[in-house]
Amino acid sequence: MENLQRKAIFAERDLRYEMGPIGIFDSGYGGLTVFREIVARLPEYDYVYLGDNARVPYGTRSFETVYAYTKECVEKLFAMNCHLVVLACNTASAKALRTIQQHDLPLYADLRKVLGVIRPTTEVIGDYTRTRQIGILATRGTVKSGSYPIEIQKFFPDIRVYQHACPLWVPLVENNELDSAGAAYFVEKDIKQLLQQSPDIDTVILACTHYPLLLPLIKRFMPPHIRVLAQGQLVANSLADYLKRHGEIERLCTKGGDVQFFTTDNAADFEEKTTRFYGQPVKASELNVLI
Ligand code: DGL
Repeated sequence: MENLQRKAIFAERDLRYEMGPIGIFDSGYGGLTVFREIVARLPEYDYVYLGDNARVPYGTRSFETVYAYTKECVEKLFAMNCHLVVLACNTASAKALRTIQQHDLPLYADLRKVLGVIRPTTEVIGDYTRTRQIGILATRGTVKSGSYPIEIQKFFPDIRVYQHACPLWVPLVENNELDSAGAAYFVEKDIKQLLQQSPDIDTVILACTHYPLLLPLIKRFMPPHIRVLAQGQLVANSLADYLKRHGEIERLCTKGGDVQFFTTDNAADFEEKTTRFYGQPVKASELNVLI
């Protein structure tokens, strides 16, 4: 009996020692559009957000580079005791997630999980389109990876997918150019180029977490009968469901409603811009992922 009690006390201590916040990662500010929705949906958990602002954009980089950068950031989050990390970045989800899941996670002695944003979006897309023709606006990397057509095909073989890369949208967002004439020019041009691929597209996925920040402009140039889908709520719902189904990881997530922000670039700069993107002032710290 005494032994059992002692074991229980130790087990409880180990668990407390092991527990940690949920990690959210993006190449920069874009992941905040997903993070906001996650915090709104699951406010009871503790979170750490890491933006790799020093090396953004990822969308124009090779598979190897996106994997190497993403892995470094995920390892930093693991070192902060995160057992569950969400890649709130399509480019990282498209180019690094599978390798991390299949190659890196099995090397950890304890339980670590990394989730992305593509599956939560593709598995429900069938509920949104009536014409069964959808458009994808994304970074070059995400488009080139073919992840969206491949994943959608798995869930909904009857849906036709048209893609268009918008390489300038991430730099516009990172530079806070959300309503300038230059931004309007590129947003209008890219939307036209997507829609001219088919007149029957009725749903467009903003398949880059930076893009919802351009929504006022996107709505200005998107025909009103086309539904524009941002991923934040879809990812938040999917995470809530995941935590419900995976008690073994859920019990490793601390609950205190605490939110911390880290950036690989200048913290003051991050704080200034984040207020606009996150909806409230935040305190950020700098994190060097290269040491
Ligand atoms: N926000 C990211 C995405 O969803 C990455 C953009 C980038 O770094 O190019 O794809």
